[in-house]
This record gives sequence, C-alpha cells and structure tokens, in this order.
Amino acid sequence: MKTVLGIETSCDETAAAVVREDGAILSNVVVSQLEDHRPFGGVVPEIAARSHLDHLSPVVGQAMREAGLDYADLDAVAATAGPGLIGGVIVGATAGKTIALGAELPFIAVNHLEAHALTARLASGDDSGDVCFPYLLLLVSGGHCQLLSVQGVGAYRLYGATLDDAIGEAFDKTAKLLGLGYPGGPAVEQAARNGDPCRFALPRPMVGRTDLNFSFAGLKTAVRQTVERETQGGSVSAQLAADLSAGFQAAAGDVLLDRCRRALGRFRSENPDAAPTLVVAGGVAANTHLRAVLETLCRSESARFAAPPLALCTDNGAMVAWAGLERLREGLIDDLGFKPRPRWPLDPEAVIKKGAGAHGV
Ligand code: KG4
Ligand code: ZN
Repeated sequence: MKTVLGIETSCDETAAAVVREDGAILSNVVVSQLEDHRPFGGVVPEIAARSHLDHLSPVVGQAMREAGLDYADLDAVAATAGPGLIGGVIVGATAGKTIALGAELPFIAVNHLEAHALTARLASGDDSGDVCFPYLLLLVSGGHCQLLSVQGVGAYRLYGATLDDAIGEAFDKTAKLLGLGYPGGPAVEQAARNGDPCRFALPRPMVGRTDLNFSFAGLKTAVRQTVERETQGGSVSAQLAADLSAGFQAAAGDVLLDRCRRALGRFRSENPDAAPTLVVAGGVAANTHLRAVLETLCRSESARFAAPPLALCTDNGAMVAWAGLERLREGLIDDLGFKPRPRWPLDPEAVIKKGAGAHGV
C-alpha cells in the first residue's frame, strides 16, 4: 500500500503529514503562524516565508516520527507548489524536492486548490470517503471562492468565481471592522452565536443572477457603513459585533445557497448519469452555519452533501499528501525542475472577468 509525505507552506500554516493509500492519516502536524501575523491583522508574506523556513524542518521530522517511518518507507513526496504566497511555496516545494532527491523518491508538485478539492475523497472515519467523480465543488477559502465541476484528478471545469473578494477574506475583513481580531472566520462564527441576524438588512450580492460568479465587496462595504453609522466613531459594542456577525453570516449563507442551487442545475444537465454530489472545501467550509445551509439545500435538491471533517478544512499537510496519492495512482509525477507557481488555476481554459483585487482564478 502506497504512502506519501505531504508538505504545505502556501499561506500561514507550516504543515506536514504522512497518509496511506487506504486513507489512514499516519501523522498530521500543523504549526500555525497566527501569533506572528496577529499584530498586523493579516498574513505578511515576508514574515510567513521566514517562519516556514524556521519551522518546516522540525515539522517534517515530527510528521515522520509520529508516522513511525523512515523516508525509505515512503513511495513519494508531495509538496504544494502553488498557488499562494510565493516565498512560502518556494520553501515547501524546495524542501519536498530535496527530500525526494535524497531518498530517491518521486516528487509530486501539488496544486493547493486541487488538494482542497480532493480532500473529501480522503477516507476519514466518517461517511465522506466514498465521494466519486464527477462532483460539484464549492471551494471557499481565504484566497478563493469558486464553483467547479470536478471530472477527475487534474480535470476541472470552472463554473464561476468571485469577481472581487474571496469569502474568507470578507469574513476576515468583517472581523477586523468589528474588532474581533484575526483570523476572522472563527471569530465571526463565534460572535454570531449571540447575535440577531435580522437586526440589519445587509445585501445579498449576485443572488438571482444567471451566471455562477460571486461578489463580496458590497457586503463588506455594507458592514463598514453600518459600523460607522451605529458607532459614530466610537467603539463597537459586543451586541453590535454579535448582530453584525450574525447578519453577515446569514447573508453569506444566502449567497452560497443561491449560487450552489443554480450550479447544481447546471451540473445535473451536464452530468445526467451522475447522482449529484456537492462537496464544500477550504477553510470557510469549517463554518457550521454555512455547512448546515448547504446540507439543507442538498436535501431539498435530492443531492448528496459531503464536506471534509473540520480539521481537514483549513490548510494542512494531509490534504497535500492525499492529492499526491491520487496523482501517484495516475502516474502523474513531476520533474525536480518544476517551478513553483504563484498563480495556478485548476481550469486553465476558464476566463473570468475579474474586478480589482480578484483572487478567483
Ligand atoms: O483554506 P484556508 O485555511 O487557507 C487558504 O487557502 O486561504 O482558509 C482560511 C480562511 C480564512 O479566511 C479564515 O477566516 C476562514 O478560512 N475560516 C472560516 C472559518 N474557519 C476558517 N471562515 C468562516 N467560518 C469559520 N469557522
Ligand atoms: Zn487553503
């Protein structure tokens, strides 16, 4: 049975994991750089790259120790080679190539988005291990917000993407406006528990549109304007933060619901023989409210819903190792000359008209 080491360094998590072909996660070590970036309210690329350099070697060592394996026991080394903050990507990809060269193993350059996309297929002790191709994927993270039809390993068709901010970015900016700190997603989710989602009427951008794109800039602006109006320059009260968090999360849920319902329609017409499955992946997929909204949608549309367990939603090495295993199975290994890619769309054919600051493709 094949076993792969996966390395992830594309954003602010330094991570390594060892995963077996049957889906057993033998180790999964994640060192978050949260504290390094917290004073700046967001990820600082230069700090991230240096921190990956400091932490990666011990993280890989720990992952191998916990798995109880030597490099010689592995079948390949997989590392995220893009897209992402290029300094960090170079650190991880170079480490992966070095280990592969030294241990005479195949090297697999993993697209970070493909790693998120395939994670739901990683058997994980729950019922998400039997997600088969094709499926509809909602990829929602700090840098991306896309709907894709996943036809197989390396075969993606982009249905739509954000024209401006990614949804995770909108969560993070909302949290900052409300003084909830960084990272914003979990903080907004927590604050929303005590809030009234109906106190403020926030917009639902793109709802009802026939295309499958997203936009979150208007929602973020509405949150900012509401904060300015309600506080008149003063501080944000706990109740205001809770109500606006709940309102923002409800609006985001309505937007995802509308876009996914429409996307399921297109997926069904293009794949009439497949029982439709909606997979949600990426850091924002850790949000319990959004998961519940999408689960309800799938029930009413007679579609299957699948999401990775919470710990595998945010960036980790296991998803990279798993993508490596899927590629290894297809014989897709890479040359040590593979150049890390700051941009690396899953669907190279797709053309999306992007607004300023778009990270969609
Ligand atoms: O996939 P990820 O770990 O990194 C990227 O590839 O971007 O996603 C990080 C994003 C951040 O924007 C974070 O605020 C968001 O995922 N996030 C959440 C939650 N947990 C993480 N957003 C909403 N609710 C959450 N519980
Ligand atoms: Zn990610």
